[in-house]
Amino acid sequence: MSLLEVKNITKRFGGLVAVNDLSLNLEKGEILGMIGPNGAGKTTAFNMISGYYKPNEGQVFFDGENITELRPDQICKRGLVRTFQVVKPFPQLSVLDNVMVGAYNRTNDDQSARKKSLEILDFLGMDNMKEQLAGSLSVAGRKRLEIAKAFATDPKMILLDEAMAGLRPTETDEIIELVRQISQQGIALLLVEHVMKVIMSLADRIVVIHHGEKIAEGVPQQVVQDKAVIDAYLGEEAAHVAG
Ligand SMILES: Nc1ncnc2c1ncn2[C@@H]1O[C@H](COP(=O)(O)OP(=O)(O)O)[C@@H](O)[C@H]1O
Ligand SMILES: [Mg+2]
Repeated sequence: MSLLEVKNITKRFGGLVAVNDLSLNLEKGEILGMIGPNGAGKTTAFNMISGYYKPNEGQVFFDGENITELRPDQICKRGLVRTFQVVKPFPQLSVLDNVMVGAYNRTNDDQSARKKSLEILDFLGMDNMKEQLAGSLSVAGRKRLEIAKAFATDPKMILLDEAMAGLRPTETDEIIELVRQISQQGIALLLVEHVMKVIMSLADRIVVIHHGEKIAEGVPQQVVQDKAVIDAYLGEEAAHVAG
Protein backbone atom coordinates (compact mmCIF):
# COMPACT_ATOMS: atom_id res chain seq x y z
CA MET A 1 0.00 0.00 0.00
CA SER A 2 1.24 3.48 -0.87
CA LEU A 3 1.81 6.06 1.86
CA LEU A 4 -0.65 8.44 0.17
CA GLU A 5 -3.52 7.27 -2.03
CA VAL A 6 -5.69 9.92 -3.58
CA LYS A 7 -8.72 8.31 -5.19
CA ASN A 8 -10.87 10.15 -7.73
CA ILE A 9 -11.16 13.46 -5.86
CA THR A 10 -13.31 16.24 -7.32
CA LYS A 11 -13.80 19.80 -6.03
CA ARG A 12 -16.39 22.20 -7.36
CA PHE A 13 -16.69 25.90 -6.57
CA GLY A 14 -20.19 26.70 -7.76
CA GLY A 15 -20.16 25.89 -11.46
CA LEU A 16 -16.37 25.67 -11.66
CA VAL A 17 -14.77 22.23 -11.44
CA ALA A 18 -11.36 23.08 -9.95
CA VAL A 19 -10.22 19.45 -9.58
CA ASN A 20 -11.83 16.69 -11.57
CA ASP A 21 -11.56 12.99 -10.73
CA LEU A 22 -7.90 13.22 -9.71
CA SER A 23 -6.06 10.12 -8.52
CA LEU A 24 -2.44 9.81 -7.47
CA ASN A 25 -0.19 7.77 -5.22
CA LEU A 26 2.93 8.59 -3.29
CA GLU A 27 5.28 5.98 -1.84
CA LYS A 28 7.13 6.19 1.45
CA GLY A 29 10.18 8.45 1.06
CA GLU A 30 9.33 9.42 -2.52
CA ILE A 31 9.43 12.94 -3.98
CA LEU A 32 6.50 13.59 -6.30
CA GLY A 33 6.42 16.82 -8.30
CA MET A 34 3.11 18.39 -9.33
CA ILE A 35 3.19 20.87 -12.19
CA GLY A 36 0.62 22.61 -14.36
CA PRO A 37 -0.43 26.09 -15.51
CA ASN A 38 -1.80 28.71 -13.14
CA GLY A 39 -5.35 27.85 -12.15
CA ALA A 40 -4.88 24.16 -13.02
CA GLY A 41 -6.12 23.07 -9.59
CA LYS A 42 -2.83 22.24 -7.84
CA THR A 43 -3.47 24.23 -4.65
CA THR A 44 -7.04 22.97 -4.51
CA ALA A 45 -5.76 19.39 -4.72
CA PHE A 46 -3.31 20.21 -1.90
CA ASN A 47 -6.08 21.65 0.20
CA MET A 48 -8.11 18.48 -0.17
CA ILE A 49 -5.17 16.20 0.66
CA SER A 50 -4.30 18.23 3.76
CA GLY A 51 -7.89 18.51 4.98
CA TYR A 52 -8.48 22.23 4.36
CA TYR A 53 -11.18 21.43 1.78
CA LYS A 54 -13.44 18.42 1.69
CA PRO A 55 -13.74 16.89 -1.77
CA ASN A 56 -17.21 16.72 -3.31
CA GLU A 57 -16.30 13.24 -4.44
CA GLY A 58 -13.49 10.78 -3.85
CA GLN A 59 -11.27 9.83 -0.92
CA VAL A 60 -7.81 10.41 0.46
CA PHE A 61 -5.99 7.58 2.26
CA PHE A 62 -2.84 8.17 4.29
CA ASP A 63 -0.85 5.32 5.78
CA GLY A 64 -3.79 3.00 5.15
CA GLU A 65 -6.37 5.22 6.84
CA ASN A 66 -9.21 7.13 5.20
CA ILE A 67 -8.46 10.76 6.19
CA THR A 68 -10.99 12.42 3.87
CA GLU A 69 -13.21 13.65 6.67
CA LEU A 70 -10.46 14.56 9.15
CA ARG A 71 -9.47 18.10 10.11
CA PRO A 72 -6.02 19.49 9.20
CA ASP A 73 -4.78 19.16 12.80
CA GLN A 74 -5.90 15.52 12.97
CA ILE A 75 -4.15 14.85 9.66
CA CYS A 76 -1.00 16.57 10.92
CA LYS A 77 -1.01 14.31 14.01
CA ARG A 78 -0.99 11.32 11.65
CA GLY A 79 2.15 12.64 9.96
CA LEU A 80 0.95 14.61 6.93
CA VAL A 81 1.77 18.32 7.04
CA ARG A 82 1.64 21.10 4.46
CA THR A 83 3.18 24.50 3.90
CA PHE A 84 1.31 27.47 2.46
CA GLN A 85 2.02 29.16 -0.88
CA VAL A 86 1.70 32.47 0.97
CA VAL A 87 3.87 31.79 4.01
CA LYS A 88 2.40 32.53 7.41
CA PRO A 89 5.00 32.77 10.18
CA PHE A 90 4.15 34.39 13.50
CA PRO A 91 6.00 37.65 12.72
CA GLN A 92 6.52 38.84 16.29
CA LEU A 93 8.00 35.50 17.39
CA SER A 94 11.59 34.42 16.87
CA VAL A 95 12.53 31.76 14.32
CA LEU A 96 13.10 29.33 17.19
CA ASP A 97 9.67 29.99 18.69
CA ASN A 98 8.06 29.54 15.26
CA VAL A 99 9.74 26.17 14.84
CA MET A 100 8.61 25.22 18.36
CA VAL A 101 5.02 25.69 17.20
CA GLY A 102 5.66 22.78 14.83
CA ALA A 103 7.39 20.71 17.51
CA TYR A 104 4.35 20.98 19.82
CA ASN A 105 2.64 18.57 17.40
CA ARG A 106 4.46 15.78 19.27
CA THR A 107 4.99 17.16 22.76
CA ASN A 108 3.40 19.51 25.26
CA ASP A 109 6.63 20.01 27.12
CA ASP A 110 8.37 23.36 26.49
CA GLN A 111 11.82 22.02 27.26
CA SER A 112 11.65 19.13 24.83
CA ALA A 113 10.00 21.27 22.12
CA ARG A 114 12.83 23.77 22.49
CA LYS A 115 15.53 21.11 22.46
CA LYS A 116 14.08 19.42 19.39
CA SER A 117 13.66 22.74 17.57
CA LEU A 118 17.26 23.71 18.24
CA GLU A 119 18.40 20.36 16.86
CA ILE A 120 16.29 20.87 13.75
CA LEU A 121 17.61 24.38 13.13
CA ASP A 122 21.11 23.03 13.53
CA PHE A 123 20.47 20.09 11.19
CA LEU A 124 18.97 22.39 8.55
CA GLY A 125 21.85 24.89 8.79
CA MET A 126 19.57 27.62 10.16
CA ASP A 127 21.18 27.92 13.56
CA ASN A 128 22.33 31.49 12.88
CA MET A 129 18.72 32.61 12.31
CA LYS A 130 17.23 31.31 15.55
CA GLU A 131 16.97 34.58 17.49
CA GLN A 132 15.70 36.66 14.57
CA LEU A 133 12.08 37.76 14.52
CA ALA A 134 10.23 35.89 11.80
CA GLY A 135 8.76 39.18 10.58
CA SER A 136 12.23 40.52 9.83
CA LEU A 137 13.24 37.62 7.56
CA SER A 138 13.69 37.88 3.80
CA VAL A 139 11.24 36.01 1.56
CA ALA A 140 13.79 33.20 1.26
CA GLY A 141 14.25 33.09 5.03
CA ARG A 142 10.49 32.85 5.54
CA LYS A 143 10.25 29.99 3.04
CA ARG A 144 12.99 28.11 4.87
CA LEU A 145 11.30 28.76 8.20
CA GLU A 146 8.02 27.42 6.81
CA ILE A 147 9.77 24.20 5.79
CA ALA A 148 11.60 23.91 9.12
CA LYS A 149 8.29 24.35 10.95
CA ALA A 150 6.71 21.57 8.88
CA PHE A 151 9.73 19.31 9.52
CA ALA A 152 9.45 19.96 13.27
CA THR A 153 6.01 18.30 13.36
CA ASP A 154 7.86 15.00 12.81
CA PRO A 155 5.95 14.11 9.63
CA LYS A 156 5.96 11.09 7.31
CA MET A 157 5.12 13.37 4.43
CA ILE A 158 5.33 17.10 3.67
CA LEU A 159 3.31 18.94 1.04
CA LEU A 160 5.21 21.97 -0.28
CA ASP A 161 3.20 24.52 -2.24
CA GLU A 162 5.49 26.69 -4.39
CA ALA A 163 8.25 26.73 -1.81
CA MET A 164 10.64 28.45 -4.22
CA ALA A 165 8.34 30.98 -5.90
CA GLY A 166 9.87 34.45 -6.16
CA LEU A 167 13.37 33.42 -5.08
CA ARG A 168 16.71 34.18 -6.67
CA PRO A 169 18.67 31.24 -8.15
CA THR A 170 21.12 31.00 -5.21
CA GLU A 171 18.23 31.06 -2.75
CA THR A 172 16.46 28.39 -4.78
CA ASP A 173 19.57 26.22 -4.60
CA GLU A 174 19.58 26.56 -0.81
CA ILE A 175 16.00 25.40 -0.57
CA ILE A 176 16.64 22.50 -2.97
CA GLU A 177 19.40 21.45 -0.55
CA LEU A 178 17.04 21.83 2.40
CA VAL A 179 14.42 19.64 0.72
CA ARG A 180 17.10 17.05 -0.06
CA GLN A 181 18.23 16.89 3.56
CA ILE A 182 14.64 16.35 4.66
CA SER A 183 14.08 13.71 1.99
CA GLN A 184 17.17 11.84 3.16
CA GLN A 185 15.45 11.39 6.52
CA GLY A 186 12.93 9.14 4.73
CA ILE A 187 10.18 11.76 4.57
CA ALA A 188 7.99 11.72 1.46
CA LEU A 189 7.36 15.02 -0.31
CA LEU A 190 4.76 16.34 -2.68
CA LEU A 191 6.09 19.46 -4.40
CA VAL A 192 3.98 21.91 -6.34
CA GLU A 193 6.48 23.98 -8.22
CA HIS A 194 6.73 26.29 -11.21
CA VAL A 195 10.50 26.34 -11.33
CA MET A 196 11.31 23.43 -13.66
CA LYS A 197 14.91 23.22 -12.46
CA VAL A 198 13.61 22.40 -8.99
CA ILE A 199 11.28 19.68 -10.23
CA MET A 200 13.92 18.20 -12.53
CA SER A 201 16.55 18.04 -9.80
CA LEU A 202 14.36 16.80 -6.96
CA ALA A 203 11.37 14.80 -8.18
CA ASP A 204 11.43 11.01 -8.56
CA ARG A 205 8.17 11.27 -10.46
CA ILE A 206 5.96 14.05 -11.84
CA VAL A 207 2.22 14.44 -12.30
CA VAL A 208 0.94 17.15 -14.63
CA ILE A 209 -2.40 18.82 -13.92
CA HIS A 210 -4.36 20.78 -16.52
CA HIS A 211 -7.93 22.06 -16.07
CA GLY A 212 -8.20 20.07 -12.85
CA GLU A 213 -7.25 16.76 -14.47
CA LYS A 214 -4.11 14.68 -14.58
CA ILE A 215 -2.80 14.74 -18.16
CA ALA A 216 0.54 12.99 -17.66
CA GLU A 217 2.55 11.09 -15.07
CA GLY A 218 6.01 9.55 -15.06
CA VAL A 219 9.70 10.12 -14.46
CA PRO A 220 10.80 13.73 -15.11
CA GLN A 221 12.76 13.07 -18.31
CA GLN A 222 9.82 11.24 -19.82
CA VAL A 223 7.15 13.76 -18.77
CA VAL A 224 8.98 16.79 -20.18
CA GLN A 225 9.03 15.12 -23.60
CA ASP A 226 5.27 14.42 -23.49
CA LYS A 227 3.40 16.20 -26.29
CA ALA A 228 0.32 17.03 -24.18
CA VAL A 229 2.52 18.47 -21.42
CA ILE A 230 4.50 20.62 -23.85
CA ASP A 231 1.28 21.96 -25.38
CA ALA A 232 -0.46 22.61 -22.07
CA TYR A 233 2.38 23.92 -19.99
CA LEU A 234 5.99 23.80 -20.97
CA GLY A 235 6.16 25.05 -24.53
CA GLU A 236 8.70 23.66 -26.99
CA GLU A 237 11.58 25.74 -25.74
CA ALA A 238 11.23 24.79 -22.08
CA ALA A 239 11.00 21.12 -22.99
CA HIS A 240 14.16 21.48 -25.00
CA VAL A 241 16.01 23.07 -22.09
CA ALA A 242 14.71 20.55 -19.59
CA GLY A 243 15.42 17.59 -21.87
N1 LIG B 1 -11.87 29.08 -2.69
C1 LIG B 1 -12.15 29.17 -3.99
N2 LIG B 1 -13.34 29.62 -4.43
C2 LIG B 1 -13.64 29.69 -5.75
N3 LIG B 1 -12.78 29.32 -6.73
C3 LIG B 1 -11.58 28.88 -6.37
C4 LIG B 1 -11.18 28.78 -4.99
N4 LIG B 1 -9.92 28.28 -4.94
C5 LIG B 1 -9.53 28.10 -6.20
N5 LIG B 1 -10.52 28.46 -7.07
C6 LIG B 1 -10.46 28.35 -8.53
O1 LIG B 1 -10.13 27.00 -8.83
C7 LIG B 1 -9.23 26.94 -9.92
C8 LIG B 1 -7.97 26.23 -9.49
O2 LIG B 1 -7.25 27.08 -8.60
P1 LIG B 1 -5.93 26.62 -7.84
O3 LIG B 1 -6.18 25.29 -7.24
O4 LIG B 1 -5.56 27.73 -6.94
O5 LIG B 1 -4.91 26.49 -9.04
P2 LIG B 1 -3.31 26.41 -9.05
O6 LIG B 1 -2.84 26.23 -7.65
O7 LIG B 1 -3.00 25.24 -9.94
O8 LIG B 1 -2.83 27.70 -9.66
C9 LIG B 1 -9.02 28.36 -10.39
O9 LIG B 1 -9.91 28.63 -11.47
C10 LIG B 1 -9.36 29.18 -9.18
O10 LIG B 1 -9.82 30.45 -9.53
MG1 LIG C 1 -1.47 27.37 -6.45
